[in-house]
Amino acid sequence: MKVTQADYVISAVGPAQYPNNGLPEFALAGRSNVGKSSFINKMLNRRNLVRISEKPGKTQKLNYFIINDSFYFVDVPGYGYAKVSKKEKEAWGRMLETYFAERTVLSAVVHLVDLRHPPSKEDVQMHEFLAFYKRPVITIATKADKIPKSRQQKHKQIIAQTLSLTPEDPLILFSSQTGAGKEEAWRALEHYLH
Ligand code: GTP
Ligand code: MG
Repeated sequence: MKVTQADYVISAVGPAQYPNNGLPEFALAGRSNVGKSSFINKMLNRRNLVRISEKPGKTQKLNYFIINDSFYFVDVPGYGYAKVSKKEKEAWGRMLETYFAERTVLSAVVHLVDLRHPPSKEDVQMHEFLAFYKRPVITIATKADKIPKSRQQKHKQIIAQTLSLTPEDPLILFSSQTGAGKEEAWRALEHYLH
């Protein structure tokens, strides 16, 4: 993918603010601090288009970015941040449930997990949740630069097993630091754009 244009569009608090021009979109889901915003910046070759959080749990709305005037990336608030109140968690859950259940232009979900650790209970729940709504999922195992090459395949295997991925399900090792996996990730996304 040659990225010729990438712009912030809106931080949407609900469906009334989602774009309604029919363009396809990809949502970025994953634990707080896993690297969703960094993933978007790296994919778009933009250092600061999406704000990288120093403190986790900062992305509270659906942040829309338009790419090449033809599709969107949607940065979704991360889950699993302990310091979020119960009330906030419930509001988050309701917003995302509606979004994943009803958003017709959502082409696929990019689900980020951390290559360093086995997927958490919440990672597994998110994967099952997306499967329940029959959403195509591209699983990205990020922070690959933190694991030596010699151990990456073992970690990849644990992620595939824990999330019950089949060999057909895309699972891509990625690093926002080095750009590893970027071309493969674009190929997986482009699959849904034609
Ligand atoms: P929330 O918006 O809070 O849900 O977090 P997020 O998932 O958007 O994570 P973000 O991109 O803000 O990254 C969190 C931290 O992880 C930052 O300090 C990043 O620099 C770091 N990080 C993200 N991706 C990578 C990666 O591939 N490798 C390394 N080494 N660090 C990364
Ligand atoms: Mg973020």
